[in-house]
Amino acid sequence: MAFLNDNYLKLKAGYLFPEIARRVNAFCEGNPDGKARLIRCGIGDVTEPLPPAAVAALHSAVDELASRDTFRGYGPEQGYPFLRQAISQNAYRAHGIDVAEDEIFISDGSKCDCGNILDILGHQNRIGIPDPVYPVYVDTNVMAGHTGDADASGAYAGLHYLPGTAENGFVPAPPQEKLDVAYLCFPNNPTGAVATRAQLQAWVDYALANDTLLLFDAAYEAYIQDASIPRSIYEIPGARRCAIEFRSFSKNGGFTGVRCAFIVVPGELTAKTADGQRVPLRGLWSRRTSTKFNGTGYIVQRAAEALYSPEGKAQVAALIAHYMGNAAILRTGAVNAGLQVFGGENAPYIWVKTPNGLSSWEFFDNMLNKANVVITPGSGFGRAGEGYFRISAFNSRENAIEVARRIRELV
Ligand code: MLT
Repeated sequence: MAFLNDNYLKLKAGYLFPEIARRVNAFCEGNPDGKARLIRCGIGDVTEPLPPAAVAALHSAVDELASRDTFRGYGPEQGYPFLRQAISQNAYRAHGIDVAEDEIFISDGSKCDCGNILDILGHQNRIGIPDPVYPVYVDTNVMAGHTGDADASGAYAGLHYLPGTAENGFVPAPPQEKLDVAYLCFPNNPTGAVATRAQLQAWVDYALANDTLLLFDAAYEAYIQDASIPRSIYEIPGARRCAIEFRSFSKNGGFTGVRCAFIVVPGELTAKTADGQRVPLRGLWSRRTSTKFNGTGYIVQRAAEALYSPEGKAQVAALIAHYMGNAAILRTGAVNAGLQVFGGENAPYIWVKTPNGLSSWEFFDNMLNKANVVITPGSGFGRAGEGYFRISAFNSRENAIEVARRIRELV
């Protein structure tokens, strides 16, 4: 008999987005009119076509693969040098940030990277996770056996939750307790909050003082409008000794379907063996990657590289401007409806307090049934998200305007 991984049985219900999809599908089956009017602002999935520079690079890379002379099979598991160089130069060195190409590892997505990183970390770590936050951090730790069971409120034994509240601006401060690993996500999914330089410096100082590894998810950095807000954890002195950074092409280049991301593991970053020796993480991550991954597709990496060309950069900037224009419309719509609104200024997510004390799922159902708009219930991102909902700005302009109108009408 094959035994299963019992940890999976600890997971609460379905993963958030499939559960939303299930409710939306059930609604659509019984409501052809509602289905026709439905606007989806739930999952943060891009809606606009790929930047033309990426499309051209894809076509030309496909042509290379179509010819014997230029055909390529397996690529380097860690990513092609052309893309690692382009990232090092454009995403970091051009901004005065020291990240070398051999510290960059190309992957097929940040969701996978966030889960896979646990492969090289021990089971005895005390892990800090913001609440609310992208649910993948909690679920992958549950799957890896790093938690006990969830209690009635959904909190897992063994995890140290870092509450983000309206009072702390949804930016949790480092705790009194010593953590071995702490996740940070800025701009934050779901709240849209950003951390100032001083707030990130406090986390880096804490990490260095407590020997904590920071897992810094910067998937939404391209949406930062305020020039004083750091886009990379490596803008903070000391971060190279305590932080791994996760970045993605999903939300800047619109690659949610194309799939390309990367993580940065600085050369001097180490963690401890059970008997206290320090070992560099970069080599371990590279070893893990060689064994479990055959690299992101060549054509995809060429498309990602093209996002750093002059025309690619201009096209990405136009995409970001489009989604941030939507965010402003949705934010204003929610404010004008009298709602308490956060985020949406340096992030494509608007985080809103539910009216009249409704629970997150109650408001979700209201929006679905009465306004025919799909939002994301805040409680799906953790206990501290209860009583909030998230509106995604990933949509057409027309839909963003219409959603803002329907929110005003409903509330
Ligand atoms: C979200 O809606 O939170 C994101 O789209 C999820 C993801 O990027 O995997």
